[in-house]
Amino acid sequence: GRPLKVALLGCGTVGSEVARLVVEQADDLRARIGRPLELVGIAVRRAHRERPGLDPALFTTDAQALVSRPDVDLVIEVIGGIEPARSLILAALANGASVVTANKALLAEDGAALFSAAERSQVDLYFEAAVAGAIPIIRPLRESLVGDEITAVTGIVNGTTNFILDKMDTSGAGFAETLAEAQELGYAEADPTADVEGFDAAAKAAILASLAFHTRVTGADVYREGIADVTSTDIASAREIGCVVKLVALCQLSEEAADGSGRSVSVRVHPAMIPRSHPLAGVGGAYNAVFVESRSAGRLMFYGPGAGGSPTASAVMGDLVTVARNRVRGAVGPGESTYAARRVSPIGDV
Ligand code: HSE
Repeated sequence: GRPLKVALLGCGTVGSEVARLVVEQADDLRARIGRPLELVGIAVRRAHRERPGLDPALFTTDAQALVSRPDVDLVIEVIGGIEPARSLILAALANGASVVTANKALLAEDGAALFSAAERSQVDLYFEAAVAGAIPIIRPLRESLVGDEITAVTGIVNGTTNFILDKMDTSGAGFAETLAEAQELGYAEADPTADVEGFDAAAKAAILASLAFHTRVTGADVYREGIADVTSTDIASAREIGCVVKLVALCQLSEEAADGSGRSVSVRVHPAMIPRSHPLAGVGGAYNAVFVESRSAGRLMFYGPGAGGSPTASAVMGDLVTVARNRVRGAVGPGESTYAARRVSPIGDV
């Protein structure tokens, strides 16, 4: 059959890896999909930078024109941030393309608009890479466990803060010193606010809670506290009582309220003491893990690399193959139309 045309938005750490894989693994991908993929354009901010192994003619700074091409089947968005990513994804979906995105901030802020746009055009919106990098957690919540009742999702979903807390635990050093070290090693960004203040984890928690509890939770609904105030004394005291300090994302479904108002959802991100016997306590370095509790399955643990070009590209590629396969069969993956409206309660309810 004719090739499926792929447009890539963004060519940073993740995007360049995805572009490389689409080109280098072309034969394997064709075999898995049943049709070849053809990379037709890569939208970047500055076209002049050298990208080894990629045809310079693919690069454009006109992302809007790329997503508006009538022949584009699949759009991969790895720019990040709210704009222009939102406008570009909405344009792509309206244009009838299926979209793969890694954009947690956008999904947490305005996911509902993206899902309805995908629904209107009857195309796919997949986002495995948006939470916990390479770890399959979106598909398990959205598909594998959708027949079960999930009661809680507890995650270590930010590698940077986990690395810092882990380092503080082993070295006994303070927060500021350890942050500086993490920045030198390339784990923390020059502006560490999104990670350190818990915004990144809160966005991921909002996405996980929305899927787990079939409701809509935005980043703003999430109670959030970062790790900047965690001291070496806090960590030493935790150790004395057999605990480690972790930045956790806690998504919980309440019991039925006494007044009959139904079950509510609470979502929060903050440093917490975890007993060393808990499966999340052993998650070290920049790794992520998500612990899921459900009525029928019981307790499940998902663990692995939560960031980085190659692991994140793995999740993007999985989505790309999946939406391409759907496209070939004229099928569409899970939509978001079945969400029950559940109350999102403030932290005090739990
Ligand atoms: N900054 C994130 C983290 C990686 O430290 O986990 C991308 O989600």
